[in-house]
Amino acid sequence: MPCLFSAFSFMASYARAPAQTSSVEELKKLQRQSFDIVSGGLDIDEVDPIQAMGLYKRGITIMRQAVRMNFGPNETEARLIQDKMQQNMEQIEDRCRTIEERVASRKPIGTVNALSFPVTHGRPSSQIIAPPTYVAGAIPSKYEKSMENLKSIPQSVVQATNASTELKKKAAFEKLKTMDPKIRDIILNEVVMDNPGIGWDHISGLESAKQALQEAAVLPLLRPDIFRGLRSPARGVLLFGPPGNGKTFLARCMASECDAVFFGISASSLTSKWVGDSEKLVRCLFTAARNLQPAIVFIDEIDSILGERSTQENESSRRLKTEFLVQFDGVNTSDSDQVVVIGATNRPQDLDEAVRRRLVKRIYVPLPDTEARLSIIKNLLSKESNIDIKADQMKQLARRTNGYSGSDLAALCKNAALEPVRELGASIKNMPLDQLRPINYEDFNHAIKKSKPSVSAESVEAFEEWEKQFGSTKKDKKLVAYARNRTAVVGATIQSTTPILRKLVRSRLRHL
Ligand SMILES: Nc1ncnc2c1ncn2[C@@H]1O[C@H](COP(=O)(O)OP(=O)(O)OP(=O)(O)O)[C@@H](O)[C@H]1O
Ligand SMILES: [Mg+2]
Repeated sequence: MPCLFSAFSFMASYARAPAQTSSVEELKKLQRQSFDIVSGGLDIDEVDPIQAMGLYKRGITIMRQAVRMNFGPNETEARLIQDKMQQNMEQIEDRCRTIEERVASRKPIGTVNALSFPVTHGRPSSQIIAPPTYVAGAIPSKYEKSMENLKSIPQSVVQATNASTELKKKAAFEKLKTMDPKIRDIILNEVVMDNPGIGWDHISGLESAKQALQEAAVLPLLRPDIFRGLRSPARGVLLFGPPGNGKTFLARCMASECDAVFFGISASSLTSKWVGDSEKLVRCLFTAARNLQPAIVFIDEIDSILGERSTQENESSRRLKTEFLVQFDGVNTSDSDQVVVIGATNRPQDLDEAVRRRLVKRIYVPLPDTEARLSIIKNLLSKESNIDIKADQMKQLARRTNGYSGSDLAALCKNAALEPVRELGASIKNMPLDQLRPINYEDFNHAIKKSKPSVSAESVEAFEEWEKQFGSTKKDKKLVAYARNRTAVVGATIQSTTPILRKLVRSRLRHL
């Protein structure tokens, strides 16, 4: 356990030579010290938040020294550490402010949940502090409560992750110096995706797909020390299922929810936009992913580049496939590699066998069930303020739309929303907006006649058959609950900050 004395000695040494270039080792030492001290605060926050605050403040002092250290322009690792420490420091300061305010106003202090800070990558602690007391029956379950926190990703988090991706990109720029500059620019500017700000709960239903993705990609990135050896996760994931049901949406959500660099590439753009260069692009893409790991490489419409090889296909497409297979194996050589490849397709049966073998985890993304349809409809309608549809009518709609995909439902709601406008005829030109009548159930009755489901029963059967033969949808609710709640040491109560969560939190700090 580091002591105050050593913290002060560091501060003193810093004070002596503030303008000199510092060493990364020194920075890491301060990082460790602040970690230990803040950890001490964590331990006692539940029972004595005021004393914990003392420790947090000591931690903050050391962190402040660390973020002020000077580094040369090439010390990208140091700048990454400083950036993370800065974010963490702000959150600990936030927690201290909360404790101080609550003490001043004599309110209960609330839970230690602020200390989800290291795993939330900058999520503001207003999202993090749970209400101080629960009234039995009146408050949603802990799990539901924590899920509420995941409903939307606050802008500040989006900005924080984007800023961190920017930093990583800069670091990558150095590492990828030897790469063809044109390709490197394409990868860093067009392929590396920014945080789209979509949370798991923007996706209705698809619980098992979400769970499987988290098990394959989120948890192993969170706890690489556990997921090694025999427990090493699947490095290749395939999302398959009928069109319009959220495969691409799920992947975009991963880009928001994972603290990994997300490379998103569509097979059609790979073959058309960079024709001739596509093989090189794949090579560079994987090199960049290795250099920037933890990373996720997402290939949409994967069947169109990695379909079954045949004697008729042209030379360049065959070379592209071979390159992909070689690169895929290349990123999976070491246990410590943290590159996950995710492919999405609505034609899994067209995939080359060698590719299928590499995408070990094959997750079925089916048509939404009644509950998911209800949630999609509710979500879509929540965007409109002028609605006159009762709860039981919504349920009825959900039942009546059996066989509709997510995007079919979107089309249906759009159609229904246009009904009040269609009635206006020529008067649309000068009709004040507030006089437009609300969308009602009758509008859906009309719309349903025009918007039919796009996926046939036969194709659903074919998907189910393929899923039986090659699919893998494995659940481990307990593990996944931890991953989903990583924001959410969050909505949980004091008692729920279990040792395993603490370990997660701490490991996250260690892996800064
Ligand atoms: N489960 C869902 N929850 C919320 N929205 C959904 C869901 N499924 C689909 N959608 C909506 O449908 C749109 C289309 O989904 P998406 O593009 O992810 O489909 P896809 O499975 O990738 O289809 P394709 O196979 O044609 O590429 C999404 O942008 C989203 O608005
Ligand atoms: Mg798609």
